Amino acid sequence: MNSLNLSSTQIRNIAIIGVLLIVGGFIIGLLTPSLFPAQASAEAPLIDNLFQTMLIIGGAIFLLVQGLLVYSAIKFRAKPGDTSDGIHLHGNTTLEIIWTAIPAVIVTVLTILSWNVFNIMQAPKDDELVVHTTAARFNWAFAYDAPLSLVEAQGVDIANLNLPDNVKADIADGTLTIASTELHTYANRPVRMDMQSRDVIHAFWVPVFRVKQDVIPGRTTTVRFTPTLPNDPTNAESWYPVKCTELCGAQHGAMVAYTVVHPDEASFNAWMSERMMGVLFPPPDPVERGFQLLSSNIYPCYTCHIDADLAEFNWNGNVGPNLTVVGDRAVGTRANATGLSGVDYLTQSIHEPGAYLVPGYGNLMPNLGISDCDTRAIVAYLCTQTASGEPACTIDTEAYAAQCTAGAPPGAPGAEPPASAPAETTPEAEATAEATPGS
Ligand code: CUA
Repeated sequence: MNSLNLSSTQIRNIAIIGVLLIVGGFIIGLLTPSLFPAQASAEAPLIDNLFQTMLIIGGAIFLLVQGLLVYSAIKFRAKPGDTSDGIHLHGNTTLEIIWTAIPAVIVTVLTILSWNVFNIMQAPKDDELVVHTTAARFNWAFAYDAPLSLVEAQGVDIANLNLPDNVKADIADGTLTIASTELHTYANRPVRMDMQSRDVIHAFWVPVFRVKQDVIPGRTTTVRFTPTLPNDPTNAESWYPVKCTELCGAQHGAMVAYTVVHPDEASFNAWMSERMMGVLFPPPDPVERGFQLLSSNIYPCYTCHIDADLAEFNWNGNVGPNLTVVGDRAVGTRANATGLSGVDYLTQSIHEPGAYLVPGYGNLMPNLGISDCDTRAIVAYLCTQTASGEPACTIDTEAYAAQCTAGAPPGAPGAEPPASAPAETTPEAEATAEATPGS
């Protein structure tokens, strides 16, 4: 006889029910993963196995609790006409020890398993590809330290290029900063994301990689993964979504980027050196360069602004003022309101977004640290955004070409650097050079 006073028949029934619960837990745990997306990283099987273990245990507990609920509702329901109270129970020490001890063991085992997986995932790997990641309402920006050897191998003589000062400062450590709105990686190279937020808490999540990490203002958080399943770099339909999983404002649900997993290092390097050539040899016409910068979405402007001429490049944000005829406004109503010339007003709006707020819009735009040359190119392009199509301001294109371009790339027709040296940059440009995501 035991302290619960169970008969041998009751013990047998409890054993049968226990086996059924365990079988049911396994069925739930084994069937549910068929709903998951592909496993595209080395970490995905670890996470899925851990989650499956939790599902099996959770499934058995779910069946136990729901089964007892249904059983009790039928078995112990009040008889017709019975309005008496239920019997008074003062508890059962043996039962309470059992139902405390079993969950304690389960939680301890799951803690050990989770800790183990967490440690494996967070352990530094050899030769990690570091991706500097910036989250801001409502977009993701990725930046790479691209080794100069990639373009030197294509015949570019870096030392003799006539580069703007912010680019010179950037390459002093032997790497050029390459910015991208897509996350580029390649199969089987470990990745480390160093992530910062410009404003509020965001969270980085790539479902196919099974990695998720908060991005917190004022600190750098990291997450590591090794992509294993390449997609097609030329087909955006195949790219893996990066999502924000922390409610960060009105456009939180639209805060999506895409991950390109190149099949090998050669494909990744080809993409990177093409981007490097674009930075080292930008077009000498500032309007053309401004269009290139804005249509590449290298800066997150498109997530908050509309510009009809850039509509095909996702310029459909509705958080900031519409830029479709901003050139007219810059030299018209804004010039009257601010007392600045069109060029100065647009430049100020980029570097000090809060200095003058367009009526009806809040102070939401961050200073993106856009370099002097990129700012001049963007302003030159915005000046062409007029109802008539005629530029609203006068831009010294020769001075821009001399100060902001290094000539044509090797092998291009008429390849020779401009004769004049780059002019002194403003203190502001120097201050932002380090922080420039790409210039
Ligand atoms: Cu960023 Cu939600």
